[in-house]
Amino acid sequence: MSEPKLYPIHNHLKGKTFFTAEKYQRFYNESIENPEAFWAKEACRLDWMQPFTKVKNTSYHKEDFHIRWYEDGTLNACYNCVDRHLKDKGDQVAIFWEGDNPEDSRTITYKELHQEISKFANVLRMHDVHKGDRVTIYLPMIPEAIIAILACARIGAIHSVVFAGFSAESLEGRIFDCDSHFLVTADEGVRGGKKIPLKKNVEEALQGKAAHILKKMIVVKRTGGDIPWQEKRDFWYHEEMDKVAIDCPLEEMGAEDPLFILYTSGSTGKPKGVLHTTGGYLVYAALTHQYVFDYHPGDIYWCTADIGWVTGHTYSIYGPLANGATIVLFEGVPQYPDASRFWKIVDKYKVTIFYTAPTVIRSLMREGTDFVQKTSRASLRILGSVGEPINPEAWEWYYDNVGNGRCPIMDTWWQTETGGILISALPGVTPLKPGSATFPLFGVKPALVNHKGQIIENNSEAEGNLVLLDSWPGQMRTVYGDQERFIKTYFTDFPGMYFSGDGARRDKEGNYWITGRVDDVINVSGHRLGTAEVESALDAHPKVVESAVVGFPHDIKGQGIYAFVTLHKKEPPSESLRKELIDLVRRKIGAIATPDRIQWASGLPKTRSGKIMRRILRKIAANELETLGDISTLADPLVVDDLVKNHKYTVSA
Ligand code: WTA
Repeated sequence: MSEPKLYPIHNHLKGKTFFTAEKYQRFYNESIENPEAFWAKEACRLDWMQPFTKVKNTSYHKEDFHIRWYEDGTLNACYNCVDRHLKDKGDQVAIFWEGDNPEDSRTITYKELHQEISKFANVLRMHDVHKGDRVTIYLPMIPEAIIAILACARIGAIHSVVFAGFSAESLEGRIFDCDSHFLVTADEGVRGGKKIPLKKNVEEALQGKAAHILKKMIVVKRTGGDIPWQEKRDFWYHEEMDKVAIDCPLEEMGAEDPLFILYTSGSTGKPKGVLHTTGGYLVYAALTHQYVFDYHPGDIYWCTADIGWVTGHTYSIYGPLANGATIVLFEGVPQYPDASRFWKIVDKYKVTIFYTAPTVIRSLMREGTDFVQKTSRASLRILGSVGEPINPEAWEWYYDNVGNGRCPIMDTWWQTETGGILISALPGVTPLKPGSATFPLFGVKPALVNHKGQIIENNSEAEGNLVLLDSWPGQMRTVYGDQERFIKTYFTDFPGMYFSGDGARRDKEGNYWITGRVDDVINVSGHRLGTAEVESALDAHPKVVESAVVGFPHDIKGQGIYAFVTLHKKEPPSESLRKELIDLVRRKIGAIATPDRIQWASGLPKTRSGKIMRRILRKIAANELETLGDISTLADPLVVDDLVKNHKYTVSA
């Protein structure tokens, strides 16, 4: 591999950022040598009701496994994100909301946000939602989504946001898994000029096993479209908001009380309910938002992630609002009405910090630079990237065209499970290498281990499985309702460490380069999908005997979905069956899981013990037919010839 280009620290940032290289090193060393003192000091950024006396109480060892931070402190996350800013920032804009249609917008100050949240929290209480209850939120990118989330936090209800792009069946599974009696949705969402039938999806979700669980729902009127309605179960948001008082007392929450559940895909089985708690999560969200983006008062901050993903939770809501920031919330898509939309929004609100995903950059890159160049973007200072490895071409395009070579790019590595960013450059500190997330943040102890779990010596060039040797406050606490699965998934392959499921390389300067998932999770446009989930959707078709799904390199999405499908002997493959299968996956999971390619397979490559050898399927899907490797251990090596032959037709289809 040729030496990557190095981008030094920008002169115009020098002396203006929180950190210098020397200060970062000092803070980092302190955070590792004395985590108690470091995290006690950093927790002062929040307002606590009862101050904590204990800081870190964690052990990754099986016999005595526990993760607790600030355990005897109490606080309220909504208070920290809103109420405490009223004194000095009541009239400051909290949210610039930009609708799908460029003519729709709303400006919400902290004072207004406080009122709306308090009222909605009263609506929840009026409908018998209390501390510890799970509230499902299935909303598009509208201010009510943030209002609903923080209203839950205000009264101590646990929110479970389900991405509005997920299907009815995915929603059903999530309502069922966390036994959620209450839901907040909208009549319809709007994206790229198209309507999304949210209330209708909810209705469909309630046809199945969630029917007896969900008792009531609140519906925001977004479009006024025709929707199914059931009296006494369904209530309009605007009508309920008129019935309640404007003051809503805060619930005092223990630092370790749950704040939210967010479902994410793993390599096996159904999505896991990742559970985050209150104190540690919020300290970590606020700290990383401030330091990674060098956030200062007056900045206009825009994270483009949907609130249905963890990035939307931590970096569109909790982190920035805890820091009293002004955020942009955008309902639409980057290409609508045209591919200048993002940059027009940057100019309209004078965005200074912009955080997005590589897939967005790649899709805009394809449209050419004219769409960028006709906007100013002079307000931008810091750029961010998240969700998947950013390829150097996309990085350079982002850097040169969007940032005009002035704005450093923070390539931030983290996961739903980690709650916040763990590895990233810092403005003013880190020379950048396109494609590398660079160095660990404070309190983060990454290491690379080989397949036996032996640490490949630190401070040396290495490649291996990326693990974390110690806990940090933002770490997930459990899989909702399934502690055993939590320990098995993250702490068993490599005992005594947290295993991320990612592979990484470390270069001689110590920069980390994430190479991608080493398990059966694929990353499509920055969205995680378990191959097992897609397979089980395909297998549900009566004509399918079995299927195997793998990722393959895709120009825009990073990874595409490639499905090998074996049909019953008497069933001939056909174009219409291919469409049926695609439809089935979309119905069972959502459009993001749509297979890009389906290859008919007379058989799948299996070992003698019946295990599918995905390594071979990945090679075929990637068209690396010359390097299939050893196939002699297969039960029937001839299967591979057939797959290779058929691959040609699949690719050209
Ligand atoms: C991948 C999103 C490379 C990684 C915050 C991880 C990345 C998974 C990066 C988590 C990055 C995220 N560089 N890979 N900067 N950020 N990933 O849970 O494989 O949706 O394990 O969290 O995305 O995805 P999740």
